[in-house]
Parts: sequence; C-alpha cells; structure tokens
Amino acid sequence: MPHRPSTTPRPPHTTWKHALWVGVMIVSAQSARTQVFVNNLMPQPSSLTPGSGSLALTSTFAVQIAGSSAENDTRLRSAIERATRRIEMATGLPHAGTGVTPTTPLHLHVDRPGEEVQTIDEDETYTLKITPTGIDIAAKTDVGAIHALETLIQLVQPGPQGYILPAVSIDDAPRFRWRGLMIDCARHFEPIPVIKRTLDGMAAVKLNVFHWHLTEDQGFRMQSLVFPKLTALGSDGLFYTQAEAREIVAYARDRGIRVVPEFEMPGHSTAWLMAYPELASGTTPTSIRREFGVSDYAIDPTRDETYTFIDRFLGEMATIFPDAYVHIGGDESPAPDWKKNPRILAFMRQHDLKNNDALQAYFNTRVLKTIARLHKHMVGWDEVLTPGLPKDVVIQSWRGGDALTKGAKLGYEGVLSAPYYLDGMKPAGVHYLADPLPSTADLTPDQRKLVLGGEVCMWAEHLSARTIDSRIWPRTAAIAERFWSPESVQDVDDMYRRLEPISIELETLGLTHLESGDAGLRELAATEDIEALRTIAAALEPVSFGERYHAQRTNQLTALDRVVDSVRPDPPSRHFIELRVKRFLTSPTTDTQDRTYLDAWFTSLTTAIPIVERQMHTSPRLADASTRVAQIPALAAVAHQSLTFLASGQHAPTGWKTAQLQKLAEAKKPSALVRFNFLEALNQLVAAVPD
Ligand code: ACM
Repeated sequence: MPHRPSTTPRPPHTTWKHALWVGVMIVSAQSARTQVFVNNLMPQPSSLTPGSGSLALTSTFAVQIAGSSAENDTRLRSAIERATRRIEMATGLPHAGTGVTPTTPLHLHVDRPGEEVQTIDEDETYTLKITPTGIDIAAKTDVGAIHALETLIQLVQPGPQGYILPAVSIDDAPRFRWRGLMIDCARHFEPIPVIKRTLDGMAAVKLNVFHWHLTEDQGFRMQSLVFPKLTALGSDGLFYTQAEAREIVAYARDRGIRVVPEFEMPGHSTAWLMAYPELASGTTPTSIRREFGVSDYAIDPTRDETYTFIDRFLGEMATIFPDAYVHIGGDESPAPDWKKNPRILAFMRQHDLKNNDALQAYFNTRVLKTIARLHKHMVGWDEVLTPGLPKDVVIQSWRGGDALTKGAKLGYEGVLSAPYYLDGMKPAGVHYLADPLPSTADLTPDQRKLVLGGEVCMWAEHLSARTIDSRIWPRTAAIAERFWSPESVQDVDDMYRRLEPISIELETLGLTHLESGDAGLRELAATEDIEALRTIAAALEPVSFGERYHAQRTNQLTALDRVVDSVRPDPPSRHFIELRVKRFLTSPTTDTQDRTYLDAWFTSLTTAIPIVERQMHTSPRLADASTRVAQIPALAAVAHQSLTFLASGQHAPTGWKTAQLQKLAEAKKPSALVRFNFLEALNQLVAAVPD
C-alpha cells in the first residue's frame, strides 16, 4: 500500500518535564507578591519553555490575524470568537462592544486554511508565545491555530490582582496523526446535542477523529433515502437524519475533527436484515435484536445483489461523510449459516474458499472495490486481518495490541483501541500508561510509521444520554494526552492533578459528567438532600461492562437507572485516598496530617449511613445498595485501627491482620453492581501494620 507521509513531530527540545511542577516566579507590577505558574495543560505540549512575568488579563482581546488564512477564514474566526468568549467567561472580562475597548493583543499568523476535507496529514502544529505585552500564535493551518487557542484557554490562571496568562513559549505538535474517540450510538441512541458537546470536549483535548458507530444488531441509526426501510424498520424511530449528520460533520470540521462513520457488516447486522431480509445469509430476524453479545445473523457474501446494495448505500453515505476513511466493522461474525447453507457452501467450493475467514476476506475484498471507487480507504476491526486481505485496509485493534504489531509487520496501517475500552470502568491511570507505540515495540522504523495512533472506545450497552458523559470524561482527557504528548510524559500523579482542572473546563463546555451523577442520585433518593448519599457514592464505582452484563442480564430494554448509573468510574477520591495512604506510609509515626485526613474521610462515610438508610426505605432502587452500605462501618473500623497501629508503631494482636484482610476480601465481592474504590488503599494500610 502506498504509505501516506506523516507529519513529523518535532522532538521535544526543552524541559517540559521540569516545567510541570517547577513554578515560574512572576512578580506583579502592582505588588511585590509573587505568583507561581502551575502547568495544568492537558495534553502536555511537546515543548514548553516558561518565560518571565505574565500578561495581566484586564481587558478582552484585540485580535489581529495575518497570513494567507486571514479575514475570510470563517472557521478560524469562529474558533477565535468561541475561545475569547470562553476566556471572558472564565475571567469575568466584559465582551468587546459599546464602551469596552479590547486591549489585550492576540496576534495570529496562519499560513493557509486547513484542507477542505481534513486528512490524516493535516498540519496540526502550532507555536504559542505569551509575553507580558501580548500573545502570538503561529500555525501552518487554522487547525493548528484551533489547537493553540485551546492551549491558551488552559493557561489562564488567577494572579494576585486578577487573572493572568503566564509568560511561556510553546512549540507543539501531535505525536500521532489519528487520535480518536468512537461512540456506539446504535445500541443506545445519543441525541445530537450529546454528540455536539462531546465534539467540544474532544477539541478541548485535541482529539481529531470522531468515529461514529452507526449500525448494530440493536439499531440502524443513519437515514438512507435510497434504502429508507433501514431506519423505518431497524431503528425504533431513533436515527440521525442526513441533515443532522451533515451538521455534525460541519461542527466537527469547525473544531479540527474528522468524522469516520462505521456501518457494520457482515455481522452485527440484524438491523440491516430486519429491513432487507433478502440480504441475509439464510436465517432472517423477526425483530430488532434486544439482546447484546454476538449474533448469528450475517449479510450474504455470495450474492451479487449484496454488493450492488452496499455499493449504492456507501455511495449515498459518501455524499454525507466526506472523510477519506469508512469503517465497515467486520468484527464478531460467526455466521453459522455460512457453514450450513448449501448455496453458500457451493459458492465457497467454487471459489476455493476454505472457511468462514476466507469467505469474509472475499467479502471484504469486494466491498473494498466500492470503497476504492469512492476514493476512500477501508477501516475494519482486527478480525478483518485474514490472509489475502488487500493492504489498503486500516486495522483497528481491539482484542489486544498484538493485532496492531502483527498488522504492521505485514504492512497494514493500524489504530490501537484494545487498552482504551472505557466500559471496562478502569482508572484513567491504567489507560494512560498504555502506549500505542512504545519505544520498546518490536517494529522497524518503517513498520512504526504504520501505527497511525489510537482510539478510545465507548460502547453503549449500558449507556444513556444521561450517563454517557461521565463514562467518557474526564478519563478520555488522560488518554488524549497519551495520543498527543511525547511518550516520556508518564507521571500518573501529575496526570491526576491536571485531570481535575480539565474536568471542570469540560463541564463549562456543557458536558454533564459531574452534574449528571448528582442528578441521578436526586432522582434515586427523590430529594434534593443528597449530601450524605453523595459522600457514599464518591467511595463507589461501577463494575465493568462484563460484570454488569452477566449479573443483571441486561439487554437494550433494561432500564439504566440504578445506583451504578449514578456513580462515576474512577472518581477523584480513589486516587487521592491512595496518594494519602502512600504518603502516610512513608512516615506513619509522624505524619499526623494524612492520618487525620484519612480518619476523617472514613468517619464521613459512617456518618452518612443513617441518612442514606432512611432514604433507602423510601426508594427500592436505592435500596439495591443496602448490602454495600452495611459493609462500610466494618471497613471504616479497619481503616481507623490500622491508622492507630501504624501511628503508634504498635504490633497488631495475633490474628488481627488475617481477620481484616478477610473483611476486605468479603467487600470485594460483587454487590449492587458497584465496588468500593478504596479497597486497594485500605489493603496497603492493613498490610503495613506490623504483626
Ligand atoms: C468490538 O469490541 N467487538 C470491536
């Protein structure tokens, strides 16, 4: 396959690493008080050099644009408008208008507009220089300038006299060209406003591919005018009109984001086959599939009519989705009909296709002809990587990093997703340390170039419009940093420190990941008085997709209104309790501050119990969690006793440790689809007690 040239990221030439924590002394002109610049940026730029002094934000921005992408670049102008509004909102500056003179100089030099249809090779680099007298942004394209503006917003911070921008010089470029977020809008539908606010969040953390998973066994979400039955019979009335999809493509482009649509074939195709049973391999569905998991239905790869249909459908979709890539799914298609339908078996013999994999490779190759005719590239999940697959297919690796490496060795481009499945409900720190292309990877320099980047995956079995944001954010911000920043940016504690300000920034963009949990708790408890419930909820997190799926036997019609739906994965308390424990254990007999904090935190959990128990009496759905809540006093006692032993240096009585570890093991068992997020920290405390 002709390999598309990459934008070469510039090597980090300065000391971003030291700049994370090393404060810059900024002496205010008005007072002798000093101010420390704290680097809250996420993602970290490839190069950052702190300057001296700061720019006081006393008035809004006097904007000057130079270069060939000047006054008539509406995308650039609206990005500047949005960015300056956000800074005004964050700092209380009045917007320019009658009686307000903008005086803060903001100069942008943008060489050229970005590509009409953004490609994987779009130049996203930029430089941003802030001095006490003004701001200079330089970029090759407006996409680079859009990234620079997001960085600028994250640099605003309080100073002694008001808000400031610290003097700094940033020279930034992405590490990977493909930095994606996939959302499954098919198993559960997500309305347009949800997609828009997600795109705003993606732009804030410099993600550049929105992979829109539009079809599944549970629903066909994209309107086709050529094949209107797809949504008429396959969507429960929940789908995106073509006008809406075009609006999303334009909205994304405005933010430097490509939209890659996915239409699943030949498996995960019940919704197609509900509408057009003549496409089926044998058995046909009688309803949209409500169950999750892998289905047996499959599109028939042996009939010419199948390819005519797909050709007309993808041709129509190409008028809506201009991106050079189209995703055809390709995963999980056991297709038992291919093993027993005599007509299909005869076809396989005739074409010397030995098994289902070979038949699927044949199918992919024929679909690829349509995709090539549309001047596009095919993307598929890693099952498509079978012998004989043409090289111009991008492999999206979801079952492990191996498929990516294997694909690259065979000459296929790839995108890594396996470590970025958000429905595993893992902590941000775990995702953060998974690198799409570690320097230790066993690949040649040419093979390394085939790794395009990574994609976060948000599958929707257990997702609603209310819960989606809290499942995606803020963890995705940490993964976005993995895709953008140098490989050496690996300090998990510092990532968590920066995750809080970015989380708040994301909320100001309209994302609901923080407030939706509270809304859910209010609804569960049927009261506004949720302080106690929130205290306990902050010590809980959802179990993984798999655990919930098996415990609750969920399907598409399961109500997503339980305690588990109102608690967040990886709430901040988990990491901060672990940090406190780690610090306390370095000097347990003298560190009274952390000991007091930890004692108080566990006490706050027990204090909350009576109120929450009263609320459970009137809310059967809340009462789900009664077993969990009943476990808290014993666990808090374990914490208090451990802290006491450690602080005094005393040995625990014989058998104490074993008994406590047993309580922890008991508390680890599944209940109410939620788990305690402090057990690891508590385990460390108990283990450290001398016996
Ligand atoms: C997948 O998770 N089946 C791509």
